[in-house]
Amino acid sequence: MRNIAILCSGGDVSGMNPAIKHFVEYALQKGLTPYFVYNGYEGLIENNIHEATYSDVAGIINRGGTKIGSARSERFLSERYRSVAYYNLKLLDIDMLIVLGGDGSFRGLDVFSKEHDIKFCGIPATIDNDINQSEYSLGVDTALNIIKNAIDAIRDTASSFGRAFVIETMGRECGYLALTSYLTSGAELCLIPEKHYTLDEYEAKFKQAMQDGRNYFIAIVAEGIRQDSADIVKWFEKKVGIESRLTVLGHIQRGGNPSVYDRLMAYKFIHHAIDALLDGDSNKVICYTKSGFQNKSINDVVSKTKELDQELLSYLEA
Ligand code: F6P
Repeated sequence: MRNIAILCSGGDVSGMNPAIKHFVEYALQKGLTPYFVYNGYEGLIENNIHEATYSDVAGIINRGGTKIGSARSERFLSERYRSVAYYNLKLLDIDMLIVLGGDGSFRGLDVFSKEHDIKFCGIPATIDNDINQSEYSLGVDTALNIIKNAIDAIRDTASSFGRAFVIETMGRECGYLALTSYLTSGAELCLIPEKHYTLDEYEAKFKQAMQDGRNYFIAIVAEGIRQDSADIVKWFEKKVGIESRLTVLGHIQRGGNPSVYDRLMAYKFIHHAIDALLDGDSNKVICYTKSGFQNKSINDVVSKTKELDQELLSYLEA
């Protein structure tokens, strides 16, 4: 029997547990022995690697986060610890590895695979949706739905109380979560790192809207903009002349019951990853593109920063 392991690295997302569940099921179906590596690359270094069974994944499909833990490993940045990680995999005779993670996790994996003879597949899993070459990363849909629910709830207070609300989303340097949420929530303002702005350009429009009877506004801002969200609140109060509040959504965006879409994508990503490894198409990232799933070389994936979808961006500029 061949041994295959899975680990989660970087920020957890809703969809990791459904992926872990299908990993065990599909690996066993394919005659492989599945292993869990706990707490990301730290688990590889610590030899926190254990055989997994059906009962380990019972009742987890509806849970956010990851049963096997995730981490950002400082030690994995060092060659010495990567060698320890490789040794631990060899010790257990594990020759195939699946990594659920984001950009930083894949960079680590890229270096690891250049130093050691490992067969791996990466699965994009980050709410930021910033993996180059992949239209979709696991966890994004659930995060967008959580943001949608938050904005809808805040709208109730904004409209009842006559306030402007500045709502800050996560996403690091990528404005995808903010822009998609803006387009789907009927907000009045969207500020993202990918589009240069000055608040002055919006002042007349908002003042006019108030003169025309508008009594509340919703502004969605990405955490990656070069301005403190609190300054946008001050701008609404001082320049537009409306009482304003800030809501930083924070880590609620990363957790919660995985959406149907994320459960299905988790299933498909795992299926493609295990099939790729068994077909000998290893050291790839399973990317979801406009023409379906494609296995892309990890080097291509990590060599460029992802550009925001131009169609979405054009709606903001319109
Ligand atoms: O990469 C996922 C993410 O949630 C980003 O959107 C955010 O900037 C960051 O992780 C937060 O990291 P931490 O959980 O370490 O505070």
